[in-house]
Amino acid sequence: MTPKEEIEQLRKELDQHNYNYYVLNQPTISDYDFDQMMYKLQDLEMFYPQYADPNSPTQRVGSDLNQQFQSVPHKYPMLSLANTYNEQEVRDFYARVKDGLEGEDFEICAEMKYDGLSISLTYVDGILTQAVTRGDGVRGDDVTANVRTIKSIPLRLKEGGDYPHEFEIRGEILLPWKNFERLNEERAKNEEPLFANPRNAASGTLKSQSSKVVAQRGLDAYLYYLLGDAIPADSYHYENMSKAADWGFKISQGMKKCKTVDEVLEFIEYWDVERKNLPVATDGIVLKVNSLRQQRHLGYTAKSPRWAIAYKFKAERACTRLNEVTYQVGRTGAVTPVANMDPVLLAGTMVKRASLHNADVMEELDLHIGDMVYVEKGGEIIPKVVGVDKEQRTGDVHKVEFISRCPECGAELVRYEGEAAHYCPNDSHCPPQIKGRIEHFISRKAMNIESLGPETVDDYYQRGLIHDISDLYSLTVADICGFNRNRVKSAQKVVDSIKNSLNVPFERVVFSIGIRFVGETTAKLIARHFKSMDELRNATVEQLLEVDGVGEVIAESVIRYFHDEQNVAIIDKLADSGVQMRLSDDQLEGATDKLSGKSIVISGVFAHHSRDEYKAMIERNGGKNVGSISKKTTFILAGENMGPSKLEKANSLGIPLVSEDEFLAMLEE
Ligand code: IVH
Repeated sequence: MTPKEEIEQLRKELDQHNYNYYVLNQPTISDYDFDQMMYKLQDLEMFYPQYADPNSPTQRVGSDLNQQFQSVPHKYPMLSLANTYNEQEVRDFYARVKDGLEGEDFEICAEMKYDGLSISLTYVDGILTQAVTRGDGVRGDDVTANVRTIKSIPLRLKEGGDYPHEFEIRGEILLPWKNFERLNEERAKNEEPLFANPRNAASGTLKSQSSKVVAQRGLDAYLYYLLGDAIPADSYHYENMSKAADWGFKISQGMKKCKTVDEVLEFIEYWDVERKNLPVATDGIVLKVNSLRQQRHLGYTAKSPRWAIAYKFKAERACTRLNEVTYQVGRTGAVTPVANMDPVLLAGTMVKRASLHNADVMEELDLHIGDMVYVEKGGEIIPKVVGVDKEQRTGDVHKVEFISRCPECGAELVRYEGEAAHYCPNDSHCPPQIKGRIEHFISRKAMNIESLGPETVDDYYQRGLIHDISDLYSLTVADICGFNRNRVKSAQKVVDSIKNSLNVPFERVVFSIGIRFVGETTAKLIARHFKSMDELRNATVEQLLEVDGVGEVIAESVIRYFHDEQNVAIIDKLADSGVQMRLSDDQLEGATDKLSGKSIVISGVFAHHSRDEYKAMIERNGGKNVGSISKKTTFILAGENMGPSKLEKANSLGIPLVSEDEFLAMLEE
């Protein structure tokens, strides 16, 4: 054997042993023999550097070199799943799918919902080429170097596998319970802060600057979603995943195809108990329509697929004494009651405060001071009070009544029709509302003004330097320093980072100004649709409703926002300061109104562009992409293999089909 052949042989064998150990959990050689082989390969690679390969098993130990993560776009956006919490909601999902598929038979694939960090892996010709975190779903961090150290992720797929030339596979990175406990023990010994749960630990680890640290921590990965242009359009999720398992990936434990909703519920019931024996954290079950063709037929909402849903396991519960109810006023003026309780251990953390949501929830619980209450920690980070043990109630306890005046400014609280929360209406003078809006404006996902935080905002507000978000841009170093010369350096940093925020793109400005109900996703949609603040400001309810994903509540909230003179004055001041008030030229490039007023359904498989690219094209040219065919549909952008029921519906409503080439020609004109 030549050295090159020997190196290749050792790599192949070590890959197989890694797979046996980390994926199958069935090692076939001793650790000692494994180490000997590894040393031999290391020696050979040192001697023959010309045969170095980043995918060699020797490279899984990571390196000490500091790294910076590059932000890269996802080829396909990384969506999340809608949640369900009980049997009825699962049944509702099942019924919706059945309805959407118009009576066609279907199977649901049930699998574990892993509680870690999502990751997207790209393989080209069987080689791992890139690993990207979810990020904001559109762009993520390139963490390839760290992911290479995760032993259950194959760097090279098994030889001879029938995998496509290029594909993406998505899954969850986790720190197994055992390694999590070991890590926290070590940290306790070194008096380092402990990780609250394996997910935080996995997240901290994956973002570590040193891939060597990552290698030592022992992350694991389960893959659950295969995608790419080369995945057969008429294939099935379950079958694709078992192929992925053959190629060397670790897939969900106990995946099952279910033919009825009862089978689905049985699966849930079984794993609700059995999951406690799994080596990694799970927080629910994911249900997916098995046929990819049917998945396409069902499509997506703005945030999540209609063909899949998560069922969340019931949260852990504890019982403790209620001592006091206090009230918090948020940036929107919503008043949230908070239960203050005797500290109690819940799902691994000490809890002494819990949300009571609103007056109705409080009333329903029939809370009395001194009650023993049940506290739960669900998917949310903040625990909540879910019940009272009335048997433990003693005689002389007094009932908790919701307050009638704002605890911060004394204004009388109001309740808007159809809303559960009480509000403090004094939005221009109630301090937490003013500060809350500024805090939202500077936050990371908004204008990302890093050098400011809640304490500095509070300080500037107390000193009368800022009354609203637009005041930030006229702050000077002298204002901030006041009489204190020592502050010059940090003040300059603040002024610089505020100035930097002038580059934040328009879409995020729309999010930052804090229009009620306009979250990140909606802000993006309306920014892209209206293109400038002036257009948005003058939009009517009807025009707002044209934006996919905008309903009446949002539309009216936008109108209300711009109706308020104070808000308009703030926007004008922001514009004068140079804040981005329109989409950039890059974003506008190629934008036309050729498809204006047209409602277009995308269906089938395409040769020239992905569905998401077509969606973007439709939007860039002023059209609206909608999920399902109705009388209002202008035409269907129809690729190959359009679903038979869609085709039938289109025919019966007389909606024209436009082919991929015709569509592209339409835009060329
Ligand atoms: S499928 C388009 N399957 O849960 C559907 N997700 O909110 C893509 N997750 O971000 C997701 N286990 O990080 C899927 N078996 C599983 C999963 C799973 C955990 C995570 C994933 C996603 C989140 C959903």
